[in-house]
Amino acid sequence: MQVVYEGNLKVKRGDSIKVKGVALKDERAPNGIEIRAKEILMLNEIEEESFDEWSLKRMSLDKKIKYRSITMRIPEEFNTFLVYSKVLNLLREFALKKGLLEIVSPKVVYMGTESGSEVFSILYFDKEAYLAQSNQLYKQMILACGYKGVFEIGSYYRAEVSRTTRHLTEFRIFDVELNYVEDMNEILDFIKEMIEFVFKNLNLEKPEFETITFKDAKEILLKNGIKIKDDLITEAEGKLYEIFNKDFIFVTEFPFSSRPFYTMKKNEYSYSFDLLFKGLEIISGAKREHRYKILYEQIKEKNINPERLYWYLETFKHGIPPHGGFGFGIERFVKQLLNKENIREVTLYPRDPDTILP
Ligand code: 4AD
Ligand code: MG
Repeated sequence: MQVVYEGNLKVKRGDSIKVKGVALKDERAPNGIEIRAKEILMLNEIEEESFDEWSLKRMSLDKKIKYRSITMRIPEEFNTFLVYSKVLNLLREFALKKGLLEIVSPKVVYMGTESGSEVFSILYFDKEAYLAQSNQLYKQMILACGYKGVFEIGSYYRAEVSRTTRHLTEFRIFDVELNYVEDMNEILDFIKEMIEFVFKNLNLEKPEFETITFKDAKEILLKNGIKIKDDLITEAEGKLYEIFNKDFIFVTEFPFSSRPFYTMKKNEYSYSFDLLFKGLEIISGAKREHRYKILYEQIKEKNINPERLYWYLETFKHGIPPHGGFGFGIERFVKQLLNKENIREVTLYPRDPDTILP
């Protein structure tokens, strides 16, 4: 909209003003509204001339992040965070509709849980502690209460030194853990329904899904010139998207060697999965090992001293239903949804190896 004022007042870009007047429809005005101001009150004056729209649009990503509060004056930039907010709310709405209990887990923890990703250690008074990489062990333990399932939206921390377009050192996960899961496909069905719910409420077309086992994916990739070992790599994820041409691809039954100790085994494989969205992993999940003795052995197999996990194992000793769940990376999902190149574009104030301010 635009404001027309015939009085005498100097307003600079960035000043905060209150306008009293009459709003009129005018096709030529931005957004079709013109306000004929009768009175303008100055609420706050700037100290420094602000960027104009043209220079805001042309800023580098680093500069955009530095001036995030100002760049968000551009509708397109604002829209990114509006979508981010909507996604958070829709995920919460879906989980609550399913009757899941919302939980909050501690973020200062005693040990790491996700093998393969680095932990940030902190000094907790006189003890060494870590920033949580995930709420994995807590969301599982709480299911011993017998309730049907839990969820959490939290910030997590991983000391990933890789400077990629898909990694942050602080990011958000929507975590779900479902109780009484007998078949891993129950979790996949939950995820499909959840993503369809989000797409529907964002007025997007119903997405298509494909499911393939890791073993089959490995073979197909080899035929296409990509050799993988016991896990997917960036290049492989992109290739699967190219081959199947479906926005969402579940890759299931990863080798146990590439999954954390809490995953339920299926011979040398496991009841685990990743979900790729336009060729990028956005979800990892699995059915968990709930049988105390087997879990104990798996911990040893992963070269972790079970004594360090006594506080977790205690729950399993006293009984817990079969269960499973997943972790859904919020920033990764929004990045793919909006076709952004870099995960930092959809993160308000990103944290990465080079950024701790603002
Ligand atoms: O795949 P991850 O490590 O799995 C877990 O944390 C398990 N506890 C989940 C489970 O329930 N089994 O992390 C889950 C998701 C990833 O798929 C990815 O979307 C996101 O979190 N993620 C990151 N996003 C941004 N930057 C990073 N460094 C990320 N690491 C993981
Ligand atoms: Mg993963």
